This record gives sequence, structure tokens and C-alpha cells, in this order.
Amino acid sequence: MSASPLTSRRLRAPDNPVPASREEILAAFKRQADYCRLREAPLTASIIDAAGTDLQAGGPIAGLLQDFDEDPARGALALRIAGAVHYLAIKGRAGPLQKAYRTLSLPETNAVAASLAALAEEHGAVFQSLVSRPPQTNEINRLAALIPAFSEVSSAWGLPVDLYELGTSGGLLLSPDRCSVDYGAFSWGDGPVSLKSDWRGDAHEFADRLEIRGRSGCDRNAIDFTDPEQMDIAHSYIWPEHPERRRTFDAAIAATRDAGARIDRADALQWLAARDIPQPGAVSVVFTSVFAVYLNDDETARLNRLMDDFGARATTDAPVAFIQFEPEPELDFVTFNVDLTIWPGRMRRRIATAHAHGAWVEPVPD
Ligand SMILES: C[S@@+](CC[C@H](N)C(=O)[O-])C[C@H]1O[C@@H](n2cnc3c(N)ncnc32)[C@H](O)[C@@H]1O
Repeated sequence: MSASPLTSRRLRAPDNPVPASREEILAAFKRQADYCRLREAPLTASIIDAAGTDLQAGGPIAGLLQDFDEDPARGALALRIAGAVHYLAIKGRAGPLQKAYRTLSLPETNAVAASLAALAEEHGAVFQSLVSRPPQTNEINRLAALIPAFSEVSSAWGLPVDLYELGTSGGLLLSPDRCSVDYGAFSWGDGPVSLKSDWRGDAHEFADRLEIRGRSGCDRNAIDFTDPEQMDIAHSYIWPEHPERRRTFDAAIAATRDAGARIDRADALQWLAARDIPQPGAVSVVFTSVFAVYLNDDETARLNRLMDDFGARATTDAPVAFIQFEPEPELDFVTFNVDLTIWPGRMRRRIATAHAHGAWVEPVPD
């Protein structure tokens, strides 16, 4: 599932939250529904439109949202509601909307609003539960933007890589070596997880193979894909109109399991501070993907200090890299940057700009 472009860098709620106004919620719904239509997800858009209609009519969705005190746009409220309906459809409990999810057909607008109201009435606990938490995703296609950076550090030293991901969600980005990427003009890798991206630059020669020696990550809210319930919730955030994304997602889960990635449920800064980095014989690559937005200024400074400490111990046989795939705050939250810092020597440069989900990658020349 994709959030619409956001406008602010921080995802945190203000210290004294007040319920979001109806106008704010409706504006966020409209923007998200328009974005869904743009991304060819008309059924999801119609559910969000129906939620807006119910809100204006004072129906069950209005009741559900009366105390919602987060920013509805930044908190992807529309996607929480769409996720709740999709979750019920996955369980076969979406009542009059079940057929629409099965056939991906678009019911008449008034019928969607009435069906959504009936569902929210009948399954209040499901809606309550999914509306109260931010959608948690794990976007495997972001590897299309990260692989050039992983390859660059691996070939720079001719060493395998130890991956450490902060905010890893379900750990799917820890298996780049299990992917093949179709970049349009050329392709990379021969793994079973097929990714697609548009490379907006000269045809690029990556290291043909990426040898991953170690792979670990942490998330304070790690998804456990062996738990069927967590799996259903994760699937509910993938728009039903995009079945190919679900297939890729499932292939990535299998690949990550086979690769034996270690995923810890932990606070990222504490977890990172406890790592023994660097280790000889591999590049220690600490990376983030849409994680920095969760940190306040103190935490960002602590993270940078930790990386500098690791870097101070780096040698050519035990180098350190810090790779960040993060939104450009001054831009549109669709354009992201891939930034690389390497030690010894602490050199920093931008590798690429890329779409939020790796749909395109534009390399930045040296
Ligand atoms: C937007 S998701 C990105 C997940 C994954 N990196 C990707 O790109 O698909 C951000 C993740 O960071 C996690 N997170 C945020 N702050 C954290 C912290 N201080 N410690 C550990 N995990 C954190 C969240 O739980 C969430 O799973």
C-alpha cells in the first residue's frame, strides 16, 4: 500500500494532541483517494471516498474517528480504513463488499458507502484496532534503489557485506542477493524475487554478485511473518488492485526466511550500540530505509555519533558504510535520496535519487 505524498518531515504526534477536525480528515481522504486513482487502485479509492461520505453523514466511521488525534495525512488514516476493509475481505468477512474484492469490480458509489457503514457497524473492533495503528509496510522494491549502493561498497573493497538494517519491519530488505532487478535498459542479479525499476541514467555496471556474509536488523515493532495474523494484516496494506506486488512480497518473505536473516524486536539506537562493528573481512553496512523520519534531533545526533565511533575503528580490511534511503524533506515525499558515507576516511556522497518505492532510480554522477 502506498501513502500519498506527505508534507512534513516528522511523523510524531504533537505533545498536546487535539482531535483532528472533520475538514482536515476529509482533505487527507481526498488527497489519498486521488493518489490511489493515479496509482490505478480505484477500488481502494472508492472505499476512501465512502469513508468521507460516512464521516460527513455522521455514520459509524464518524463515530470511530471522533477522538482521532494524530495528523490524518501524515498518519495515513485513509489507508488504515482501507486496510481494515481489505483485512476483512482477506478473512472472507467483507459482506456486501466481498465480491468487489474478489473480482476487483467497482460497485456503484452509494452502494460502497452503505456497505462500508454496515461493515464498520458489524466489525467495530477490527476497525478500531486497525485505525489505532499506523500501517506497517515493508517495501521490497526499495531494494532497486539500495542495491547500487550495496554493490558500490562491496566492489570498492572487494569484500562481502555484513548488513545491519535499522527499522527493518519484517526484514525483507536484508535479502538483496535473492533478487533480480529489471532496470529497463539492463538487469541485475538472478535471484527468485523479481523487482522492477526504471534506471534514469547511463547503463550501469554493478558488481555482478553481491556476497552477503551477515544479515540482521531490528524494529521496535518487527513483523513476524510466521504468525498468520500478522501476515494477514501485512497483506491488507497491499492494495488489492496490485496482485503482482503481493506475489513479490510473498516471494521476498520466503527468500528472507531461506536466507536466515536475524531480526530483533528492539529500539534501533540501543540495538546498534550493542553491535560489534566493524568486523574484519567484510564491509559493515548499516542502512536505513524510511526510518530517519521517526527520529527526533537528539536521536539523529546519537545515530550519527554511533556511526562516527564505528567509523573511527574502520580499516581497509574492516570498512564501514552508512547508507540512507530517506525522503528529501524539502521536496515531495515521492523523491527520495540514497546517501552513502564510508570509513576509513569519512567520505560522504549522494549515490542516487529515487522514487519512494524504487519505481525509478536516477544515479548522481561522482
Ligand atoms: C516506514 S517503515 C520502513 C520499513 C522498511 N525499512 C522498509 O523500507 O520497508 C519504518 C519502520 O521503522 C520502525 N521504527 C521507527 N522508529 C524505530 C526505533 N526507534 N527503533 C526501532 N524501529 C523503529 C517502525 O516500527 C517501522 O517498522
